[in-house]
Amino acid sequence: MTKTLLRGRLLTFHRAPQSADDDRAYTYLEDAGLLIEDGFIKQMGQFTEVSAQSEGVPVIDHRPHLMMAGFIDLHIHFPQIQVIASWGAQLLDWLNNYTFPEETRFASGAHSDAMAAAFFDQVITHGTTTAVAFCSVHKTSAEAFFAEATRRNMRMLGGKVLMDRNAPDGLRDTPQSGYDDSKALITDWHGKGRNGYVLSPRFAITSTPEQMEMAQVLARENPDCHIQTHLSENKDEIAYTAQLYPNARDYLDVYGSFGLLGPKTLLGHAIHLEEREIASLAETGAHPIFCPTSNLFLGSGLFDDAGLRARGITNGIATDVGAGTSYSMLQTLNEGYKVLQLRGHALHPLQAFHWITRGNACVLGLEDRIGTLEPGTEADIVVLNARSTSAMALRMDRADTLAEELFVLQMMGDDRAVEEVYIAGVAAKSVLETAAEQRLSRRHRRLPQHAQGTVRERQALPSNSLWTSLASQ
Ligand code: GUN
Ligand code: ZN
Repeated sequence: MTKTLLRGRLLTFHRAPQSADDDRAYTYLEDAGLLIEDGFIKQMGQFTEVSAQSEGVPVIDHRPHLMMAGFIDLHIHFPQIQVIASWGAQLLDWLNNYTFPEETRFASGAHSDAMAAAFFDQVITHGTTTAVAFCSVHKTSAEAFFAEATRRNMRMLGGKVLMDRNAPDGLRDTPQSGYDDSKALITDWHGKGRNGYVLSPRFAITSTPEQMEMAQVLARENPDCHIQTHLSENKDEIAYTAQLYPNARDYLDVYGSFGLLGPKTLLGHAIHLEEREIASLAETGAHPIFCPTSNLFLGSGLFDDAGLRARGITNGIATDVGAGTSYSMLQTLNEGYKVLQLRGHALHPLQAFHWITRGNACVLGLEDRIGTLEPGTEADIVVLNARSTSAMALRMDRADTLAEELFVLQMMGDDRAVEEVYIAGVAAKSVLETAAEQRLSRRHRRLPQHAQGTVRERQALPSNSLWTSLASQ
């Protein structure tokens, strides 16, 4: 039996805060003890009390930092980690010109394995302990994703995308092969370790009605799997969808008519919705997922969080890397705050931090396992430092309340604010850091690909050239 006692300030939510002074929605302790036993939280309370009952247990002292449940990212694309920050396009061009060519590379098992390791390094470094990921169309990509998640003992959800049209060669399945591969992946990975399989018809444009029918069969056969797709992100996308599915009442009806809507359905973006669609979301319990950095990056539009919530709809929040521009759920909150300001609504930091922890866990129906620091839940924890940069430290000198500290983290924080990450009770970020720093320092010394010709030219110059003598000065 492995036991560890963490010491530090602690914040965990019991329900969504209704207002800025709703202090019964959460527990905040100045000097807390968090007893971890075999990957689970055993006890949470005042340090003096927990330590009195934990004699001989090694203590890791994180004071003055803040312990919180690990962050949950409800929409991210694993095969897009090398197209993040690709210039100048809106959704459909961005998919065709950058994203689809990149995803074809995941037909290779070796490439998928290497990228899975890099993906999980990034996710952990940024404080995310659970993510819901789209893999590529290739079975290999999902295999690499789940194998790496299993190796790291992370609670991860994901699935291979179903896409059988409007995509280049090497990036299409068929209704039958998509069904067969998904079924095999469910058998191999769903419920194994901490993994969950997610049925993933990419979006209406890349699936024929025949493929949607197969997705419906998969959903019926696997009612405990989540379903993820994209909805109403971009006006051109919506117009093309209407052409491809002329009998659908609206975009959401494409998914509704194939029985794909319910409380386990996650709908990325959901920006440009019609009244019937909003009513259908409320009725079916499907969840829109707000992807602020992506929606701004692709110029997609402004998500109406308050409007949807007023209709009783529960929204998730996510990075959507690689259209999203940061793996950080803190940066996601930063951009999210600004989007909602433009919608006339100021997201309070207590609500923001509830959202990226317990709130997103509730969207998944997993709040009894992740998203809080309640005893009995899985010990996925982040340790946050609101003074992680000099600019943040300056601001923190004038911060008097927990809410102010959280807002500094929300607006200015990123991976540097994440001091440590525990995955099922085991420190994961500090372990990664040493290895990553060594790799990064090598990578930082590497020239960009586009400049490497200059190096080759320079190396080819005769040793008495002006270039060489200048370079050696
Ligand atoms: N719609 C269909 N596929 C994608 C994708 O990969 N990213 C985004 N942002 N939207 C999509
Ligand atoms: Zn997406």
